[in-house]
Amino acid sequence: MAENKEIKLNELNAKDFIEEKAQKISEMVGDGLVINALSGGVDSSAVTMIGHKALGDRLKTYFIDNGIMRHGESQEIADIFEKAGVKVEIIDAREKFFNALKGLTDPEEKREAITQAFYKDVFSDLVRKSGAQYLLQGTILTDIDETVAGIKRQHNVFEQLGIDPQEAFGYKIIEPLIQLRKDGVRKVAEVLGLPESIYNRMPFPGPALAARVIGEVTEDKIGIVRTATSIVEEELSSTGAFQYLAILHDDRVTGMRDGKRDFGLQIEIRCWDSIDARSAKPTQLSYDILCGLANRIVDEVPGVVSVTYNVACKPPSTMEAI
Ligand code: XMP
Repeated sequence: MAENKEIKLNELNAKDFIEEKAQKISEMVGDGLVINALSGGVDSSAVTMIGHKALGDRLKTYFIDNGIMRHGESQEIADIFEKAGVKVEIIDAREKFFNALKGLTDPEEKREAITQAFYKDVFSDLVRKSGAQYLLQGTILTDIDETVAGIKRQHNVFEQLGIDPQEAFGYKIIEPLIQLRKDGVRKVAEVLGLPESIYNRMPFPGPALAARVIGEVTEDKIGIVRTATSIVEEELSSTGAFQYLAILHDDRVTGMRDGKRDFGLQIEIRCWDSIDARSAKPTQLSYDILCGLANRIVDEVPGVVSVTYNVACKPPSTMEAI
């Protein structure tokens, strides 16, 4: 799968693309075994379905519960794929990820720790146990662009950085979606018969909620940002915005609760209008929506006394916080 010339949405014949990639995967793998990790995002979902079309039971699909996903996400995604005839095994790797993140505050160090925990620790283990030779994953062209440009190290990019996965981790990586951008993958996912909740799923970063905790990532902080995320997603789903999220800041501010001083937490909300995530503008949310969000967050997320809305564009901002 070395050829990675971009296929634009208007050039894409999704049905032919799926057939061609499934055929290539079969040829590459022969009668070998492959594993893949499903997160429920449109990229990993599309690649899971193409892989199963090509390999059937010789592709084993895992959902890695890294402790930094959203509320109820692992079971929700496993259930959707069971319905589509794909068995998903949930792997509890929470401890590994929180240990890897302990004490880290630098954004790129946090990203690197998550990458290493995924690829070196969890996947290497699964490869060894399953006897697989390949990892199938849904890297897309935008992941590579941002990593090569040195903006953010996307968790799933190796060869373009001169890293040989076979040497570094002990297995080969197959990337059938590498010629597509998000719009193309959505089309492919729809043609694969996945439900709309998957093919139109809002983007969510590989480093998951850890990309939304400024400073050290702990289980407690993830719990806080997870609750805030559920509220933001419930309240903003009707806006049709490209992506909306909650960020937990590291510094505290003075607030008051029940007539007493409360040195409390700050949540920042971001809501983006964008076509392809390469540039983005904050959505012009009404004051009523913003106040409704703030009220729910201070009421329902323990310890939060301040809620802000980001109004800076990307660039120079980026969409996630780390
Ligand atoms: P940024 O924060 O770079 O985000 O403006 C652009 C888009 O990419 C998502 N994102 C990621 N996706 N792995 C991913 O698969 C990552 O490491 C990663 N970091 C950011 C982000 O959610 C947004 O949609």
